[in-house]
Amino acid sequence: MPGDKSISHRALMFGALATGTTRITGLLEAEDVINTARAVTALGAEAVKTGDAWHVKGRGVGGLKQPDGPLDFGNSGTGTRLMMGIVAAHDISVTMQGDASLSRRPMSRVLNPLRTMGLQTAEAKDTLPLTVKGSSSLVPIVYELPVASAQVKSAVLLAGLGAAGETTVVEREATRDHTERMLRFFGASVETREIEGAMHITVRGDAELTGRDVVVPGDPSSAAFLLAAALVVPGSDVTVEGVLVNPTRTGLYVTLREMGADIEFLNEREEGGEPIADIRARYSQLKGVQVPAARAPSMIDEYPVLAAIAGFAVGETRMEGLGELKVKESDRLAATAAGLIANGVVARADGDKLIVEGTGKVPGGGLVETHLDHRIAMAFLTMGLASDAPVGVDDTAMIATSFPEFRGLMEQLGASYV
Ligand code: S3P
Repeated sequence: MPGDKSISHRALMFGALATGTTRITGLLEAEDVINTARAVTALGAEAVKTGDAWHVKGRGVGGLKQPDGPLDFGNSGTGTRLMMGIVAAHDISVTMQGDASLSRRPMSRVLNPLRTMGLQTAEAKDTLPLTVKGSSSLVPIVYELPVASAQVKSAVLLAGLGAAGETTVVEREATRDHTERMLRFFGASVETREIEGAMHITVRGDAELTGRDVVVPGDPSSAAFLLAAALVVPGSDVTVEGVLVNPTRTGLYVTLREMGADIEFLNEREEGGEPIADIRARYSQLKGVQVPAARAPSMIDEYPVLAAIAGFAVGETRMEGLGELKVKESDRLAATAAGLIANGVVARADGDKLIVEGTGKVPGGGLVETHLDHRIAMAFLTMGLASDAPVGVDDTAMIATSFPEFRGLMEQLGASYV
């Protein structure tokens, strides 16, 4: 399985903030992550591949240099938002830009707390392109997340590494914790305390990180397409090896089991401070379920593929608390509902809910608008493996942002594309 996207971005960025060299194996070589490798290189922390490992020459917290030109993050919200936190703690001014999808996405969610700490922006707007100016004398803050977002949490903690004192993020709903785990692995002081049902995550400023060897586990959000395909194509039995099974990322697998999926975690082990397993899925007759809002952060990127196979289940699948889906690479709530309807599935988006009426069969035959969104393209191509008529998507180019191997792996499993 290609490497996890979230962990790949972080390995490059934290390597840039460390002293000494960081060696990364299993890095996801997809467009989003390559843009982050280019960005850290432009900031003076050269990231290069030698043999089968990537090496980042770290410059230490506060040591990044002014880049010669704008940094282009392509399609990646994670690359942009985490880098805003990093730039905040440096006396440099950086212009950030991205593609049409990224330029529509809200940056206020990271800019608001970072401005309180001392970040300045040249423009009054909160969308890319933007020029951000950091400071080596940031003010530490206590910040309660207004949305369940690991990107916002990470941006504030990364800025906190360079602030004088302790910076705390308060999180009411648990989001992916790769930043906390990996910062500790690099030697930063990160403390997590539960107070009255909320997590308080505190990072100590003036931090020193040390270059490390990082092994990137397989991406569960990409594995999801292969495993979902196995569940809906009769006779399938697929095992994906070495997949990250951090509990902040496995909500999809909890949901699939509730739907009656024959899915198991085998050979559970730990690698580089993260739990991993081989995941085996076999064709299963699925039933509709209710997916609670509280589960959304742990499967936020998996709703399109869940919805795409929910039509093969018998009964209603009701997914709640999906407000954040509207501000992903596309409005995924609307794009998913539209793709289902175009393929003869009875579905509707209602506020922040998505409801799919499963009949056990999907007619297919429709053309799905992907809106520059890789996961919309892959979700509907997965649905097309088991629908009565083939499913079309209007564009596949964006798949390369997260999972360039998608088509080849699907073909190895027996899919055909025309
Ligand atoms: C990510 C966090 C999630 C997720 C994104 C990657 C990360 O976004 O959707 O694909 O690596 O921190 P939010 O934290 O904004 O929900």
